[in-house]
Amino acid sequence: MKNVYIVKHSLIQDFLSHLRNRKTSLHKFRHYSDRICQLLFFEAIRDLQLQKITLETPLSKTGGVKISDEIIILPVLRAGIAMLFGALYLLPKSKIGFIGLERDEKTAKASQYYWKMPLVTEKSVVIITDPMLATGGSLVHVLRQVAPKNPKRIIVVCVVAATEGIKMVQKEFPRVKIFTAVVDKKLNVTKYIVPGLGDYGDRYFGT
Ligand code: PRP
Ligand code: URA
Repeated sequence: MKNVYIVKHSLIQDFLSHLRNRKTSLHKFRHYSDRICQLLFFEAIRDLQLQKITLETPLSKTGGVKISDEIIILPVLRAGIAMLFGALYLLPKSKIGFIGLERDEKTAKASQYYWKMPLVTEKSVVIITDPMLATGGSLVHVLRQVAPKNPKRIIVVCVVAATEGIKMVQKEFPRVKIFTAVVDKKLNVTKYIVPGLGDYGDRYFGT
C-alpha cells in the first residue's frame, strides 16, 4: 500500500504485543504506549526539512543543520492525547491543535465536540496523532478540515490501522502518509479492529 509505512522495528513489535495483551495492566499499558508512540513518531519525522547552519565546535568552524519545518501536532481527542507526550519529547517546540471526536457506539460515526487549531501556513507540517484507524471515518473527518488549509504536508501516526480505514482515507487523501505499527485486516460488527487491542482510550486512561 503506497504511503502506508508499517514500522517493523523489533522494539515496536514487542511493545505492540504488550498493548494487544488483555492482561496488560493500566500502568503497563501506559508505559508501552508512551514508548511505542515515541518510536513511531521518531520514524514519521525522519525526513523533515533541514536548513544549513554554521557553528563552531571547540576546535573549529563547521557546517550543521537545524529542522526548519514548522510543526503542528494535532492529537485526536481523546486517545490521540496518549501520543502527544512522546511527540513533544522529540519536537518540544511544536504548536499543538486539538480536535475532539467521538464515535457513536451503535453507528460508529464520528461526531465533533471540539476544535482549536493554530494558524496553518504553507510552511506547516501537520502531524495527526490517533492510535486507532478503524473505519477511517474519524480520520477522514479530521483531514477534511485540515487539508483545505493547504499545509506543506500532512502525516498521520497511529498504532493499529485496519485495511478498511486505510482504503477509506486513501480514496480521498492519497498523498497523506500513514505510519503505523501494524495493519489488521478485520473489523467486527461494532467496528472494532480485530485482533486490535480493544478501546485504546479506555485502556490508556483507565475508563
Ligand atoms: C477511537 C480512535 C479513533 C476512532 C477510530 O476514538 O481513537 O479516533 O475511534 O475509529 P474510526 O476509524 O472507525 O473512526 P473513540 O471514538 O473511541 O473516542 P476516544 O478517543 O474518546 O476513546
Ligand atoms: N477505537 C478503538 O479504540 N479501538 C478500535 O478497535 C476501534 C476504534
